[in-house]
Amino acid sequence: MAFLQINAIKIWLVPFMLGIILFTTVYYMNNFYNFIELDSSQSYYENFLDEGISNCNCNCTVPKRTQKVPKLLHYVYLNEDPNNLPFNFIQWLAYTSAIETIKPEKTYFHCIHEPKTYWYQLIKPKLSIMKTRIVTEIFGNRVDIIQHKSDIIRMEVLRDFGGIYLDNDIIVLQPFDDLLYDDFTMGIEGGTSLCDAVLIGRPFAPFLTRWIQRYKTFDDSHWSFHSVLMPYQMSKEYPNDIHVLNNTAFFWPHWEDEGLNLAFNTTNYSFSNQYAYHMWSSLSYERYLKHISPKSIKTVETSFNKAVRKFLNYLPKDFNEETFDFDGKNLNKK
Ligand SMILES: *[C@@H]1O[C@H](CO)[C@@H](O)[C@H](O)[C@H]1NC(C)=O
Ligand SMILES: *[C@@H]1O[C@H](CO)[C@@H](O)[C@H](O)[C@H]1NC(C)=O
Ligand SMILES: *[C@@H]1O[C@H](CO)[C@@H](O)[C@H](O)[C@H]1NC(C)=O
Ligand SMILES: *[C@@H]1O[C@H](CO)[C@@H](O)[C@H](O)[C@H]1NC(C)=O
Repeated sequence: MAFLQINAIKIWLVPFMLGIILFTTVYYMNNFYNFIELDSSQSYYENFLDEGISNCNCNCTVPKRTQKVPKLLHYVYLNEDPNNLPFNFIQWLAYTSAIETIKPEKTYFHCIHEPKTYWYQLIKPKLSIMKTRIVTEIFGNRVDIIQHKSDIIRMEVLRDFGGIYLDNDIIVLQPFDDLLYDDFTMGIEGGTSLCDAVLIGRPFAPFLTRWIQRYKTFDDSHWSFHSVLMPYQMSKEYPNDIHVLNNTAFFWPHWEDEGLNLAFNTTNYSFSNQYAYHMWSSLSYERYLKHISPKSIKTVETSFNKAVRKFLNYLPKDFNEETFDFDGKNLNKK
């Protein structure tokens, strides 16, 4: 009897349960269709974004870019003769522009001997001095030319530390912050050259480690093959490993008479759209650079002077225009 009673209750439960299931299904289906209707309207997405994304507090839709390159600045100074260690006003200007614009965590000065001139003493408190090695060979190939030795040291330094390498004659005009997100960055110099006067890279960037390997075929008598043409060729072979900037990023106006004249002898060029300017010191020194002084930058209107004038604010308060010494050899003169 008891058995039958339980079965009777169970039988009675079946339609009851079915009723509940039917009711909830219809209820949820109804809502589901409401959702679908809402789905095609904007308000659905707005609600979703409000509740979903803003609550996660992390801007989920935009992947965060990660900085790969440390904000370290590197200079290489390889003069081996202790009696020939120049460091002039233009170098002070270049270093000051870079340090005050990039605002690096550290500025490394990789050298064999430190200069002693007035202009070096002014910048020295902002530098971390690193003694570097004397290069004589790479992969068994002789290296005699000082510019090639410098090419090799800058590549090794950038591979090991990461950061930003600059030649001694680069004026920095805009922060490099947005160039720190790629493995390796260089700028086009001319048609088929990437100039190694500015290098930006993370430690052990694949492009750079491969480029160093290519020095197995290095030949000191080929002026710019491994330093300038080789990286251009490699940028075609490994386009994903390098961020290539156009020639106006660092290396414009160019080094020919017309380009130098435009920068140093007219007001026609605007430096406002580039990260840096390479002064091409070996070509511009005699005609332009050695005649530049704090006073001429202040008083003579040229494209270059207008771009660098703001860096004179970093001269010491007691700087004396009248005793200006371009080479800064005499420390007593200020
Ligand atoms: C994510 O952040 C960027 C920059 O702050 C902002 O422009 C964008 O609207 C944000 N996106 C969302 C979905 O919150
Ligand atoms: C070259 O690069 C600069 C800065 O990176 C950019 O502002 C400019 O539009 C580029 N010019 C060309 C022709 O691509
Ligand atoms: C500067 O430009 C003037 C013409 O505007 C020219 O005569 C002179 O030779 C130029 N100076 C240099 C050093 O290029
Ligand atoms: C500079 O610009 C002026 C006027 O725009 C022009 O007459 C002159 O030839 C230009 N000079 C150079 C060197 O481009």
